[in-house]
Amino acid sequence: MLRRSVPVVAIAIVLTACNPSGFGPATFDSIAVDTTLAPTTTSPPASTTTTAAPPPPSDVADLLGLGDSLYPELGNSGYEVNHYSVDLTFDPEPKTITARVEIEATATQPLAAFSLDFIGFDIADITIDGDPVSFTRQDGELIIEPNATITADQQFVTAVSYTGTPAPIVSQAIPIEMGWRTDPTGINYVVSEPDAGRSWLPVNDHPSDKATYSFRITVPDPLVAAANGVLVERLTDLGWATWVWESAQPMASYLATVVIGDLEITEDEASTATSGVAVRNVLPDGISSNSLAVLDKQGEMLEFFADVFGPYPFDAYGIAVVDGFESALENQTLSIFGTYMVESPRLFETVLVHELAHQWFGNSITPTDWGDIWLNEGFATYAEWLWIEHTEGPAAMAATVGGNYRQMGLASDLDPPGNPPADDLFNASVYVRGGLVLHALRSEVGDDAFFEILLTYAAEYRNGGVRTADFIELSESVSGQDLTDLFDSWLYGDELPTLP
Ligand code: ARG
Ligand code: ZN
Repeated sequence: MLRRSVPVVAIAIVLTACNPSGFGPATFDSIAVDTTLAPTTTSPPASTTTTAAPPPPSDVADLLGLGDSLYPELGNSGYEVNHYSVDLTFDPEPKTITARVEIEATATQPLAAFSLDFIGFDIADITIDGDPVSFTRQDGELIIEPNATITADQQFVTAVSYTGTPAPIVSQAIPIEMGWRTDPTGINYVVSEPDAGRSWLPVNDHPSDKATYSFRITVPDPLVAAANGVLVERLTDLGWATWVWESAQPMASYLATVVIGDLEITEDEASTATSGVAVRNVLPDGISSNSLAVLDKQGEMLEFFADVFGPYPFDAYGIAVVDGFESALENQTLSIFGTYMVESPRLFETVLVHELAHQWFGNSITPTDWGDIWLNEGFATYAEWLWIEHTEGPAAMAATVGGNYRQMGLASDLDPPGNPPADDLFNASVYVRGGLVLHALRSEVGDDAFFEILLTYAAEYRNGGVRTADFIELSESVSGQDLTDLFDSWLYGDELPTLP
């Protein structure tokens, strides 16, 4: 009864890599982010500088990264962001952004200077707590010098005003243009995993620093502007509409999105009634009735995964569909799908499950190091198999697991999922062998302990950060078993272990 025996999402990525219209082979070496877009040094007008010389940013060099095991330069240390307020006007003709982003942060140490990640645009001015400050830009870093040293534990608000034409970037992790993209039909959308948040927002661009977000997105009426979270209001003024969205739960910067275009926001009342989660989708015209029928299953999927993983972690859910995106991405509360993913009902159902599962695993529970990406992709892949077990029965699931295991057996050149390469972060091992880690765990500890582990993990780390070691420790404490060998061999061993 089951025909699919291979991981659909991983295949989609591989296909992309081989597609002549894609962005290059999966084995792409390291691709440097083009930071030449960034203007060099800029300072505020002389009249707004303070008379005292700004404190020297002597120790800022130590703050230009968070020491991620794969991308050490990403993010910034010395502070933690609590909230971003994004006030952004987008004019599709001629494709310009005018934005002001307020960043409410708390210093974790005294700061004579600090940095944000930001690429491109012209910065009009930057203030801290309302006072203009000076800043410099280099290699994707925006270095800001407060007029007086910020003290440890001090809360401060940095406001960055900027303008320009948004452009995507190619990160080292995957040879696809990420960040702000424009689809062939004129829809503008943002997909940033892992590190393209900095291509449209000044941001602490690392998942170890999650924050809440509010968005005010102004676009020409009658275009739709969707963002993460809940639509609070829509205001119109002289041919422009401002869409106000609120993301009340913390979010990693790679999951922040806007989707702007000739779209419709449709409430799925049946799914909302089934699941108790407000389900709304952001759709273009022309999606087939077959695909729409699959989309209607989101209510049942939400209901099922709330049973298995615990309550849905956010205030709303749904998907947006855009043309020309090679893949799908689990943007928080608003997963985004390329039309290619939507057209085949079987593929669509699988990827719907996959991106929904990421709302728990990846979005609510977020790895604080990109080297732990299997905690996202392995769990989302295993969720696909759980859905098959739920809808088609245990034999269908066993066949799927077996097919995926054989697939991994043929991919002996891939690194084990616990050690992904920095230049191929989303490789099939992270997805498939990552999913098999959970299959092996379930076989070892039994169903009762396994599902208790999933529920406990989702509850304990809800809306927080996690490392692989945390998951191992929790699995051992819930099951009462020593699982060192199991995790060592499945996550880090060069050889693919035997399928239990
Ligand atoms: N987390 C995404 C998924 O599997 C990864 C998609 C890979 N593409 C990308 N551009 N990051 O659903
Ligand atoms: Zn995924």
